[in-house]
Amino acid sequence: MTVREDLKTTLNHNLSSGPKTIILAGATGALGQLIAGYLLQRKATVRALVRKNSSATAIEALRAKGAEIREVDYKNVVELTEACLGGDCVVSAVSGLREVIVELQSRLLQAAVAAGVPRFIPSDYCIDFTKLPAGSNRNLDLRREFQIILDKAPIKATSILNGMFTDLLTGQAPVILFKINRVLYWGKASQPLDFTTMANTAEFTAAAALDPNSPRFLKIAGEVASIRDLRNTASEVTGHKFRLLWAGSLGVLKTMITLTKTFSPGTDEVFPPWQGMQYLYDMLSGLPKLDQLDNNCYPEIKWTSVKDVLAEKIKLDKLN
Ligand SMILES: NC(=O)c1ccc[n+]([C@@H]2O[C@H](COP(=O)([O-])OP(=O)(O)OC[C@H]3O[C@@H](n4cnc5c(N)ncnc54)[C@H](OP(=O)(O)O)[C@@H]3O)[C@@H](O)[C@H]2O)c1
Repeated sequence: MTVREDLKTTLNHNLSSGPKTIILAGATGALGQLIAGYLLQRKATVRALVRKNSSATAIEALRAKGAEIREVDYKNVVELTEACLGGDCVVSAVSGLREVIVELQSRLLQAAVAAGVPRFIPSDYCIDFTKLPAGSNRNLDLRREFQIILDKAPIKATSILNGMFTDLLTGQAPVILFKINRVLYWGKASQPLDFTTMANTAEFTAAAALDPNSPRFLKIAGEVASIRDLRNTASEVTGHKFRLLWAGSLGVLKTMITLTKTFSPGTDEVFPPWQGMQYLYDMLSGLPKLDQLDNNCYPEIKWTSVKDVLAEKIKLDKLN
């Protein structure tokens, strides 16, 4: 079949209302694997784009769930276009810096348009970067840069904004300090913060991918909690009294970020320590707080609370 004939098949397919085909980039990643699972639960066909050197274990797990595996060279737009043919939506869950978020996603977008895929979900999954000043958060600047490219393309786009993955509160984000029963913060303890588990974000993304009417932005938060709320929840779940540990104003955190950037630049890393600190700074500033949440858009989704996540951690700690 020629590409033109394939394209005709794609257009006919998109007008019909059978099972949907979702092209999933970054399918081998932590979020991507979850998205694949939720799409398959919803009876979609999942075409998982993987690389030659992607983890064999992750590919096997995707195949076992029922995903179709398509090895691609992300530098080759013709190959990507072939991989996108017949798709109802391209979902990206890739992670990286400029070469991934801007350059790779641009080629994927070009391929999606060429293949006649009507919808595209970029790998955003973050706080509301549109409200942050340009130049303030490196990783989110890259999303803003890709947003401009995406909004010029003849394709319908939906970005999922979910705040911080709640899961990070059990380790990676040094906010709840379980060893010393403290909740560390800068600025105001009353600032509302958006948290959504990775699983809820994946389930919502899967629902949005299958919804031809999803809007340009979908904002979700499994729970909106302040630093004070986190202290109360940590105390309740652990049975130990947690106290607040104020480390200074947001200005102090800014200085710490500058110093960390200077002495430990980690420029090639996607998440060097200063990037995490910047993310926290932005959340504590209140600027990228999500307004008008779309949690009820897909009412079948049950939201996981901060309490549930912390309780699971305590349970696992007890088992180990
Ligand atoms: N809101 C939050 O708190 C939060 C926290 C963490 C992540 N996120 C976001 O969630 C999204 C997914 O993150 P994740 O944690 O699932 O990432 P991950 O586990 O590191 O997975 C990254 C995926 O991207 C693919 N990838 C990376 N570099 C690539 C390249 N050069 N070419 C092609 N594919 C490449 C990987 O493929 P291979 O298997 O082939 O390497 C993998 O499938 C990202 O947008 C990330 O920023 C949000």
